Amino acid sequence: MGVNEQTKILLLGGGALGSIFGWRLQEGGCFVSVICRSNYEVVKASGYQIESVKYGNGNFVPDMVFKSCSEAIAKSDFVYDYILICTKSLPNISNPADLLKGCSVSESTVIVLIQNGIDIEKYFFEVFPKNVLISATAYIDTKQTDSGVIVHGERVSLYYGLYRPEGADGEVDAGKEAKSQALLEKLERCLVSGNVDSKILENIQRERWNKLIWNSTLNPISVLSGGSNSKEMLENPNIRQLVVNAMKETISVGEAVVKMPLEDFPSEDIPDLLIGQMLKRKNAVYPSMMMDYMFKRPMEHEVILHNAIKYADRLGIDVPILKTIYALILGTEAKYLKRAK
Ligand SMILES: *[C@@H]1O[C@H](CO)[C@@H](O)[C@H](O)[C@H]1NC(C)=O
Ligand SMILES: *[C@@H]1O[C@H](CO)[C@@H](O)[C@H](O)[C@H]1NC(C)=O
Repeated sequence: MGVNEQTKILLLGGGALGSIFGWRLQEGGCFVSVICRSNYEVVKASGYQIESVKYGNGNFVPDMVFKSCSEAIAKSDFVYDYILICTKSLPNISNPADLLKGCSVSESTVIVLIQNGIDIEKYFFEVFPKNVLISATAYIDTKQTDSGVIVHGERVSLYYGLYRPEGADGEVDAGKEAKSQALLEKLERCLVSGNVDSKILENIQRERWNKLIWNSTLNPISVLSGGSNSKEMLENPNIRQLVVNAMKETISVGEAVVKMPLEDFPSEDIPDLLIGQMLKRKNAVYPSMMMDYMFKRPMEHEVILHNAIKYADRLGIDVPILKTIYALILGTEAKYLKRAK
């Protein structure tokens, strides 16, 4: 198949998560270019070496590898159908949309945000109001153990849907809606061909809040309990109770924002169910925020905690635990980032 007939994907963030999606999309028949940072030399020379429980071992050689957006645009004589953003969202370090500076993004290119947190889309919507934005949450267990060397477990799921900016309710443009729907389905065909568990959701914000129940609690609490993994946290009755209480706050804000329950069963059962699932896993989970803390990297507190707290304030919901956690996380981060300077 020539490049012209292929769906063309540009992937920003060629780390542990991005490389797995890039690999699967290429296996699914897409043309996949990757913009790499620290692993550029290795990936350019020989691609990614991937060890995956689900897919077996493989060598993912992207169709093109670049150092920057401007290089990608200069060297690709076609328009990308989708740009996948697989980086952390750190608006306090720089505007997340700055990632696309130099990319001269065409209005017909779909921007797919595979990131954690709440309100991560607004940064891109402000700069690219005319592009279709797809908001996605990924469930995947993967890590980069060495430059370009990826170890992946058993799960790869992508749940996604159209980003609908607040206040846009009501004025739905049927033509645009049909086009956007077709673009969602085209992405789905690519993912399914690459054997990725893929689900298009009508209400992606409900799913984002659902994921935030873990991310806004287990992530920061793992840092604040001295760098504890999931088992260490949840087998300690005091910390477990704190996690449950914090989860209840996130649930109440999320339900007020999406104006419906987050699950199809009673909300008060969510914390114990999530904790039960976590404890059933063979291996303890090391939350990504804890890894950032250990390696003295910036943490995703703005999109995982602060954006949720801002909603709570706007809606008049009390979230004393989330606010306490947020303050302590900021203090912890400020201390080690200053020392690292
Ligand atoms: C991050 O940015 C937000 C929005 O501008 C601001 O409210 C918040 O205080 C900032 N956080 C830090 C740690 O500077
Ligand atoms: C978020 O939560 C998911 C589980 O829902 C977990 O796998 C992931 O490590 C967490 N990541 C971050 C950045 O919070």
